[in-house]
Amino acid sequence: MIGSTVSMDFDKKQGMAGVRPGMSGAENAGDRAFKALRGPWAGTPYHLDAPFWPTPEPLVERMLDLAEVGPGDHLIDLGCGDGRIVIAAARRGATALGVDIDAERIAEAEAAAHAAGVEQLVSFRCEDLFATRLEAASVVTLYLIPHIHGLLGARLKTELAPGSRVLSHAFAIRDWTPRAHETIDQRELFLWVVD
Ligand SMILES: C[S@@+](CC[C@H](N)C(=O)[O-])C[C@H]1O[C@@H](n2cnc3c(N)ncnc32)[C@H](O)[C@@H]1O
Repeated sequence: MIGSTVSMDFDKKQGMAGVRPGMSGAENAGDRAFKALRGPWAGTPYHLDAPFWPTPEPLVERMLDLAEVGPGDHLIDLGCGDGRIVIAAARRGATALGVDIDAERIAEAEAAAHAAGVEQLVSFRCEDLFATRLEAASVVTLYLIPHIHGLLGARLKTELAPGSRVLSHAFAIRDWTPRAHETIDQRELFLWVVD
């Protein structure tokens, strides 16, 4: 049984773009910039911050190799698509959470986890990735678009414990220096380790 929670909690006070945990009611310049970058429909099922482009399976395995994902890890895939990274991490003995704002993707991911027999190790949630708490993760994976990676950078630094690994397919995080950087079939992979 997959621990699935389907929740779409829109912050009514902040409006549709106000989905960042811990945001105060009082807007500041940072909040306005954040909303402007994500657009008015941010955090709703009508808005994807990135489309569904799945990471090819060989690259999924290479990403997990780079971060040496295994038993004892808890991986969170922010924008998990069909769940392939979460399922691959579970096959290596890690526990893993996938979040996606598209309910169709979450249904696909749950079915795939069932088919792979890893339900005990994984969970999926239909939610806005900007509402996902990251503290429990030892590994976070990203494949979104560049400015969304940029918006996540500060949270990754403050919410993840030192030594946690961040993996990205395709896009860097501005001002972060990768521990590893590879190009495979014209696709870039990045590994960072949080200080
Ligand atoms: C490029 S795909 C990556 C899928 C998967 N991580 C992989 O690498 O195969 C991006 C995914 O992010 C999801 N997504 C986009 N905006 C989101 C948001 N605000 N919150 C949660 N998921 C989101 C999309 O639905 C899509 O499945």
